[in-house]
Amino acid sequence: MTEYATLTLPDGRATQLPTIVGTEGEQAVDIARLRADTGYITLDDGYMNTGSCQSAITFIDGEAGILRYRGYAVQDIAKHCSFIETAQLLIWGELPNPEQKARFSALLTEKSTLPEDFRRHFAAFPVHAHPMSILSALINALQTYDIPGLVIDDEEEFERVSAALLSKVRTIAAAAYKSSVGEPIMYPRYDLRYVENFLHMMFSKPYRDYEPSAEATAALNLFLLLHADHEQNCSTSTVRMVASGQANMYASVAAGVCALWGKLHGGANQAVMEMLNQLRSSDMTVKDYIAKVKDREAGIRLMGFGHRVYRSFDPRAVLLKEACDGLLNSMQIHDPRLDIARELEAVALSDDYFVSRKLYPNVDFYSGIILTALGIPTEMFTVLFAIGRMPGWIANWKEIYDSSTQKIYRPRQIYTGPAPREWQNRFVRERTTGGFKIPADLLADQPDPAGSETA
Ligand code: CMC
Repeated sequence: MTEYATLTLPDGRATQLPTIVGTEGEQAVDIARLRADTGYITLDDGYMNTGSCQSAITFIDGEAGILRYRGYAVQDIAKHCSFIETAQLLIWGELPNPEQKARFSALLTEKSTLPEDFRRHFAAFPVHAHPMSILSALINALQTYDIPGLVIDDEEEFERVSAALLSKVRTIAAAAYKSSVGEPIMYPRYDLRYVENFLHMMFSKPYRDYEPSAEATAALNLFLLLHADHEQNCSTSTVRMVASGQANMYASVAAGVCALWGKLHGGANQAVMEMLNQLRSSDMTVKDYIAKVKDREAGIRLMGFGHRVYRSFDPRAVLLKEACDGLLNSMQIHDPRLDIARELEAVALSDDYFVSRKLYPNVDFYSGIILTALGIPTEMFTVLFAIGRMPGWIANWKEIYDSSTQKIYRPRQIYTGPAPREWQNRFVRERTTGGFKIPADLLADQPDPAGSETA
């Protein structure tokens, strides 16, 4: 039975608003009819407290540090699943059975290559182009090779397009890297699994195959599945926004790539590494840096710290920190940036500035050290995040696409610009030529020809 909340407005009117309770007991007030009934809208700049949709994909309890994909704890998924099984779980709602797994795996293999004439696009970018630019542009470009993919007619077609995107995003990412370092683009291999194949395309050379260690493959698999979905974050909300206008899947996820790029979102993993590099190469101590962060005038943040939803700890960061230690030990790497990161974490977590604001390491704090150990250059970090987030974007796109009642996302606003004003004629003179009046500012540098009409 629906329960109602009562809202009393300044003029004394009261309105009844239905409440909604989610699977995990999270509560919401449904304000969809508020404006129609009262003339009021709600205002929540930055969506600090706005549920933009109902979704059955991912659950987060930020206070308790809980993250679940389709009901499964992310810790269990991390222990038992490959990135691709995680993708199937997110997109179709259930873990795949052996037949579904084999079919999807075959599709991923089949779709892994880029059309041969697509490869010329990489040469069209300047050498300094950021790979996120290349990725978003080329995901959009990919759609033009996948006609009639603009409309997805049935489940089989949806599976085919999803496989193409998941598989090709990895091929594009590796090719963007290869072209940025002036090396030949490697073809995918049909005998390798998803993660190994990506590492092969990144690091093999025509004269030497790259053989990743089991630890490296496991660390990248973990990185990808921990990024696979995170409910209504900035890029996923962007994908849903674009999809709600009935844009195709390629256009919607390409928009997601652009939204991810910002350094407060997916770009934070690159920003963390740049921060650690800066600390390593300067005389600044960790304490000095923390003091600078706290001094708001410096305008810098402790990158990889804080989260809109997690107010205790980010479970992904815990898993990645563990994996980071394990990987560096197994590879016998001593990265001084890991020492700096640990010290930053220890100093921040004992400082009231961070404790009182509930700022803890997020997923980006340790991930960069893992990616660096794998040989991935800093500029590719956010690209790796995008590869990881692809299943979540596809799952959210599907949720919109499958809904028969979905409306276009179209928020309202409170206008704060000028009140209506009277039109003032700005022009001191205008000339009529062939029946058209030409405004004076366009004539500013031109002498008046004899005989023209001016006013
Ligand atoms: N360093 C220093 N102060 C911070 C930080 C930080 N990393 N994060 C938040 N604060 C302060 C902020 O200045 C504000 O202080 P006050 O209340 O005195 O004005 C308070 O904490 C609340 O911050 P906010 O910006 O209002 O919080 P938000 O929920 O809008 O922002 C955030 C969340 C992730 C953008 C922010 O914590 C941040 O900028 N972190 C650094 C960037 C980062 O690591 N981003 C990756 C997020 S996780 C990956 C992903 O899902 O995208």
